[in-house]
Amino acid sequence: MTTKVRYSYLAEQFADPTAFLDAIKAVVQRGDFTLGEAVGRFETRFAALIGSRHAIGVNSGTDAIKLALKAVGIGPGDEVITAANTFIATVGAIAELGATPVLVDCESDRYVMDVKATEAAVTPRTKAIVPVQLTGDMVDMAAIMDIAKRHGLAVVEDSCQAIHAAQNGRPAGTWGAAGTFSLHPLKNLNVWGDGGVIVTDDDDLAARLRLLRNHGLAHRDEVVTLGCNSRLDTIQAAIGLLMVDDVPASVDGRIANAARYDAALADIPQIRLPRRRADTRQNYHLYMVFAEDRDALVRHLNDQGISAKIHYPVPLYRQPGLAHLGYAAGDFPHSDAQAASVLSLPIDPYLTPAMQDAAVDAIRQFYGRG
Ligand SMILES: Cc1ncc(COP(=O)(O)O)c(C=O)c1O
Repeated sequence: MTTKVRYSYLAEQFADPTAFLDAIKAVVQRGDFTLGEAVGRFETRFAALIGSRHAIGVNSGTDAIKLALKAVGIGPGDEVITAANTFIATVGAIAELGATPVLVDCESDRYVMDVKATEAAVTPRTKAIVPVQLTGDMVDMAAIMDIAKRHGLAVVEDSCQAIHAAQNGRPAGTWGAAGTFSLHPLKNLNVWGDGGVIVTDDDDLAARLRLLRNHGLAHRDEVVTLGCNSRLDTIQAAIGLLMVDDVPASVDGRIANAARYDAALADIPQIRLPRRRADTRQNYHLYMVFAEDRDALVRHLNDQGISAKIHYPVPLYRQPGLAHLGYAAGDFPHSDAQAASVLSLPIDPYLTPAMQDAAVDAIRQFYGRG
């Protein structure tokens, strides 16, 4: 079966790579491969996009989370609360600091962390909360900030999937001490390899992060703290610079596509849409629905040449590599129920109405509503 609806749009996005290759050529000709001038320019544009005072480029979204937590003082023995259904990077970043990830369930009707479960997980050892803005939707951030304030906890947002999302007009990434973003090729702002960004309004935190990402070097000959090498490559910054200003328009394209899907799927009882909060602008990094008989539906779609994905089929807390955290099957019932029913349809701004119609028709056909 030929692919009628593809999931990845990279071939279309970079069909004409001339401007990108020219930007790389300029870096090569300048020879400023590490912390070159494109990094500073990209950081300035990124901070303007998010509306933060500072943006610090690092080598991945995973390192963005790790360094932001380290910069707010998280270390061995500390507990950090995050989502049971997130991507492994969130939990891995916490664990790399020697801290203990404490997982909480998602809401029953949305894929993001539940705030009541978050508060119930606070102990005397809790030092931070990492709310995860999964799929580009947002956790109830006012409630998270209130919990953090009452318990004296730092908040580092995992907004890796949520560039240009906002709640009550406040952008994802700007709620806590720091916000973290991924520039991975499959993210809404995607470079040609790995990259990440930390945003903050705190001048001291920004200065500490600039040190931490570059071996703790104040300058070539002075180490003022122990850091690591987590610089954003100049070449990736030069690629990102060509796209960073287009993020709002491309998110608008995703929002329009999502509205189209929402309308077309609304009368299928076997498909449930996650609850949409009126106060939240999702960036629709993923367009996700809860589908009855999901695995058979995915097989049917694939047979029809329609690509669909599952983010994620096994909740993190049931992964063998996390067994030492001591969670048991059934500890997070909403995450389990959603893992069994979630389905992601292509939602990118390159998707055509004809592709969307083909995906919807195949779903209708599966449920006998063709
Ligand atoms: C929710 C979430 N957190 C963290 C990351 C880590 O980002 P990166 O792949 O850039 O390290 C990702 C993406 O992969 C993600 O989806």
